Amino acid sequence: MNQAREWIREARAIAVLTGAGISAESGVPTFRGPGGLWRQYSPEQLATPEAFARDPRLVWEWYDWRRCKVAGARPNAGHLALAALEEAKPRFTLITQNVDGLHDRAGSRSIIKLHGDLWTVRCTACARERRDERVPLPELPPRCECGALLRPGVVWFGEPLPAGPWEEAQRAVREADVLLVVGTSAVVYPAAGLVPLAAACGARVIECNLEETPFSAEVDKSFRGRAGELLPQLIAS
Ligand code: OAD
Repeated sequence: MNQAREWIREARAIAVLTGAGISAESGVPTFRGPGGLWRQYSPEQLATPEAFARDPRLVWEWYDWRRCKVAGARPNAGHLALAALEEAKPRFTLITQNVDGLHDRAGSRSIIKLHGDLWTVRCTACARERRDERVPLPELPPRCECGALLRPGVVWFGEPLPAGPWEEAQRAVREADVLLVVGTSAVVYPAAGLVPLAAACGARVIECNLEETPFSAEVDKSFRGRAGELLPQLIAS
């Protein structure tokens, strides 16, 4: 722990990659592992354009349920530790796969959202995007003023990541002295590819996860535990 703490203290540029595990202690279910299934469905069965085309109401019921969960949640000690680290570092980039907005609510500012935002909706016809924070949504599936279906403003399996944020994320990782990888199973690409990219570009890679991941044996330090406990310890100077 002391060694990793020192790397973080001495780093000029820090990048962080977070996944659903950082929000678990706030009561937001992760996608994989215990509690990961909604009804009997896995995320791969619902978070796709095909699932939405087949049954938009079912897909929206899942998102409406997640939105309700997140609306009742608060940022935890892990989110807050990262917001504090940002204050202490001149070059800091938080890259998240999460769509829940809890990093924003914790006070983080430099956030790259690779998978979009649960609180935006986008028209499937006119592509207009706007914020909608109502929970629960009054009508499922919701519709645009133009009459067409609205979809969640998130990235689904089979869809490309938003080009600008993805470029920025890769740049931040290439330039980082330290990459912190927190609460992600690191199995969903291209986001997971940021971990080997950081290592190839010379960053120290530090992982915090309850369980082992495909990268645990390769990174410089891998800690088993809760993000809300590990991050405050790692970041304390
Ligand atoms: P996953 O649900 O795949 O993984 C969550 C990870 O967090 C697991 O490795 C857990 O061991 C770990 N974990 C759980 N609780 C934790 C805690 N308190 N502290 C630390 N670690 C903890 O979530 P992601 O890796 O974010 O994409 O999943 C990646 C993507 O797959 C998501 O962005 C989403 C999903 O389908 C799309 O919807 C496109």
